[in-house]
Amino acid sequence: MKLKLVACALFGVGLSFGCVSKQHDVSISADLSKEGATINKDIYGQFAEHLGRGIYEGIWVGHDSDIPNTKGFRNDVLNALRDIQVPLVRWPGGCFADEYHWRDGIGDPAERPVKVNTHWGGVEEDNAVGTHEFFDFVELLGADAYINGNLGSGTVREMAEWVEYMTSDKNSTLANQRRANGREEPWDIAYFGIGNESWGCGGHMSPEYYVDLYNQFATFIKTPPGKKPKLVASGGHTEDTQWTDVLSASIERNMDGISYHFYTLPNSDWSNKGHATEFTETDWFKTMERTYRMDKYLKNNIAKLDANDPEGKLGFYVDEWGTWYDPEPGREPGFLYQQNTLRDAVLTAVNFNLFHHYAERVHMTNIAQMVNVLQAMILTDGGDMLLTPTYHVYGMYKVFQDATSIPFTINGGEYKQGDQSLPAVTASIAKGQDGKVYIALVNLDPANEAEVALDFDNGDYSSLIGQILTADAITAKNTFDAKEVVKPASFSSDLDELVLPAKSIVVAELK
Ligand code: AHR
Repeated sequence: MKLKLVACALFGVGLSFGCVSKQHDVSISADLSKEGATINKDIYGQFAEHLGRGIYEGIWVGHDSDIPNTKGFRNDVLNALRDIQVPLVRWPGGCFADEYHWRDGIGDPAERPVKVNTHWGGVEEDNAVGTHEFFDFVELLGADAYINGNLGSGTVREMAEWVEYMTSDKNSTLANQRRANGREEPWDIAYFGIGNESWGCGGHMSPEYYVDLYNQFATFIKTPPGKKPKLVASGGHTEDTQWTDVLSASIERNMDGISYHFYTLPNSDWSNKGHATEFTETDWFKTMERTYRMDKYLKNNIAKLDANDPEGKLGFYVDEWGTWYDPEPGREPGFLYQQNTLRDAVLTAVNFNLFHHYAERVHMTNIAQMVNVLQAMILTDGGDMLLTPTYHVYGMYKVFQDATSIPFTINGGEYKQGDQSLPAVTASIAKGQDGKVYIALVNLDPANEAEVALDFDNGDYSSLIGQILTADAITAKNTFDAKEVVKPASFSSDLDELVLPAKSIVVAELK
C-alpha cells in the first residue's frame, strides 16, 4: 500500500496532529509504438501587436538607438526569442489590425503619417515599423509571418493590394514599389487573417454578415502559384461556438482555418480581472479552473468543425490566448503591461498539453503577447530585459515542435477546491523530430506533490532526464533586480520512482 500522506506537522502543543501535504497518485500508460497527430510547430506561435511597449521598445528601438540592434530590432530580445525557436509571429493586431492601413507603413520613415492608436492608450503611432520592418523581424528570428488584414475599416481593394505588394513576382506597379522600397524578392506569408474579432472591436458584426464579407474579401486575395497563405477567418471566443458553426457551415472556399480567442482572467470578470502577482492559493485555483476551460471550449468548437467539415480540412487556430490581469498601478492602463509568475508558467504548460491533445485540429496558436504586453515572454526596461517564467516553458517545450504525438491514457488525480475539481496532473508524450521520446508533466496543485506511475509498452526505457521549472512560492517571479528566481533546473528520475513536486513542470527525454 502506498504511503499517501507524505509530510506531517505538529500543530499546537500536543493538541492536534495534522498532515499537510497529501500526495496525488497519478498513472499514465501508453504504447510507445503508436502515433497520433503531428504537433504543428505553429502551436508555439507568438502575437506582436502595435500596443503599448510591445513593438516600440519591446522589439524595435530603431537603427540609431544606443541599444545594440540589427536593422532596428534589439539584439538581446532577438537572441532570447531565437533560443525558444519562435516559429510564427502574428502582426499587426489584434484590434489594431482593423484600423491599420498598410500604405502608412512603407517608404521613407520620415514621410510616413502619424496616426493615433485609438484602441491602445491613444498614443501616436509613427508607423516606424511597417511591412518591410516586420518581415525583417521574422527573417531575423527565422520565423514565419502571420499577417492580419483589415476587414473592419479597410476595403477589399486595399487588402488585395497589400497581398499583391507582398507576394507578386511580376513587374506590376505595386511589386516594383516594393522593389523600390528595398525588397526585390516577394515574401512568403504563412497565414493571412481576414479581420480580427469581427464580433467586437473588428466591427461588431453578426457571423452571418461576416461570412458575406469574408467571401468577398477572400475572393480577391491573389498570389503567384504556390504562394497562397493559409487564409484565416475570424471566429469566436470564450464559450461561444456559434461563430465556428456558422463560418464552417457557410464558407465554402478560400478558408484554411477559423480563429478563436480565449483569455484567462482569475476572476472571470473583465472589470475586476485579478492581480498579476499578489494572489492566494484560492486565486491560483480559480485561475487554473478558468484556464482549464480551454479543454471544454476546444472540444465544443471542434465538435462543430467535425460536423461541418468531416474531412478535417479546416484548422482551429487559437490565435490569442493567455492571462489578462488588472493593469499594473502607475502604468498606462491601455498598454496592458503585466508581470508574470510561476502561476503563468504552470497554466502555459496546461494549455500546451491541451493543444497537443487536440492537435488534429489545433494547428496554430499565438500567445498574447510576445514582449511587454499581457502574458509576455520578455519584459524590457529601457536597455534592460528579463525572461519571464512563461518564456522558460516555451523553451522547455520546444522539443514538441513538429513532434508526433503518442496517444496515452492518464489518471491525473484530483486537485480540488470546494466542490470544484481539476486534474492535478496533465501530460504530453511525443516522438520529437530527433526521434527521441519526450514526456511533459505539469502538477497544477500548488501544495501537493504527485507520484506518477508510468506504464509503457514497446519501449525500453528506465529513466527520464530533462528539466524542471518550479519555485518556493506560488507568486515567484523574475524582476529586474532578481532575474533568475524562476528558471529551469536539471531533472532526472528512474521511471519507477517519479515524483512530481507541487506546482511544477517537467519536460524530459525517456532514456
Ligand atoms: O491582445 C489584446 C487584444 O485582445 C487584441 O487586440 C484583441 O484582438 C483582443 O481583444
